[in-house]
Amino acid sequence: MSKERGYFLDAKTVDTIYSRRAKRYEFFHHLFTRNRDTVWRQEAAWLASLKDFSLVLDLCAGVGLSAIEYFKVWDYQGLKNIHVTALDYNEKMLGVAKRKISEAGLEDRVTLVRGDVMDLKKVDKDEGFASFDDQSFDAVMCVCGIGGIEQSQPAYNEMLRVLKEGGRLIAIDLHNPVPGLHKFLSVQKWIWDKVTSPFLLPKIWGWKNPTSMIEQLPKTEITDSSNTKWRFEVLNKVVRQETLMSFSALVISIFAGKKIKTDLLLRNIAPEGAPTENH
Ligand SMILES: C[S@@+](CC[C@H](N)C(=O)[O-])C[C@H]1O[C@@H](n2cnc3c(N)ncnc32)[C@H](O)[C@@H]1O
Repeated sequence: MSKERGYFLDAKTVDTIYSRRAKRYEFFHHLFTRNRDTVWRQEAAWLASLKDFSLVLDLCAGVGLSAIEYFKVWDYQGLKNIHVTALDYNEKMLGVAKRKISEAGLEDRVTLVRGDVMDLKKVDKDEGFASFDDQSFDAVMCVCGIGGIEQSQPAYNEMLRVLKEGGRLIAIDLHNPVPGLHKFLSVQKWIWDKVTSPFLLPKIWGWKNPTSMIEQLPKTEITDSSNTKWRFEVLNKVVRQETLMSFSALVISIFAGKKIKTDLLLRNIAPEGAPTENH
């Protein structure tokens, strides 16, 4: 069970919230994000910087909105053979996703699976959960998903594990207000601290504060079965204020990282002439 800022949100509670929300999810998500979510999903597709025949894992896929937007970008880029595995925990959300993916004519390009981001090795035949080997995907995407995961660190470890060497993780989510972006920071902070973070996010969306993602992801490190250590090389780490018709609304963070061996990362950041592990 996770505790952040004084409230609890375990996976079961989040699952119950999404079972209730699935039918009207799309409407409310567009409303809550003032339709900016469509832009974020397309931005994630651009940042993935894929080649044709890439395999993509979309985590916390919800009702499949992200996959639909990714393909608009990849089709524009002429990438006709990308395959997305869209994974979510919640059966009702996956049910709506099935309809939406079919309406978008993407059945051959998207496989919907049930799984738990915190354990993508889980093989539980009864529940039919998906499992993936190390280094299975060219890109892992998670748009507006991290906030709802009960424990983020095991999920980050899994995102790193299932990526191929050189593959990218693209994660986009809300961020708390930061100085310098908003004219009335104290008002924005008050709304975030007193309303958005303790009530709107957990009660309506099953989300806890997803702000730590942008700090935690660069620190994530795993060791595989051959004792190789892996991390993300940070390609893009941005916190941005979304402004709509001169009205400053949401703050979001965007992370793009490339899976790289830790010793390579250390060599890249060591000052010239400095000893590295291999010297
Ligand atoms: C806010 S929705 C985001 C859906 C989608 N990415 C989007 O942008 O519309 C969060 C989703 O994460 C899913 N989720 C939460 N915890 C999960 C877990 N541990 N494993 C898989 N999915 C999870 C929920 O079922 C829900 O569908």
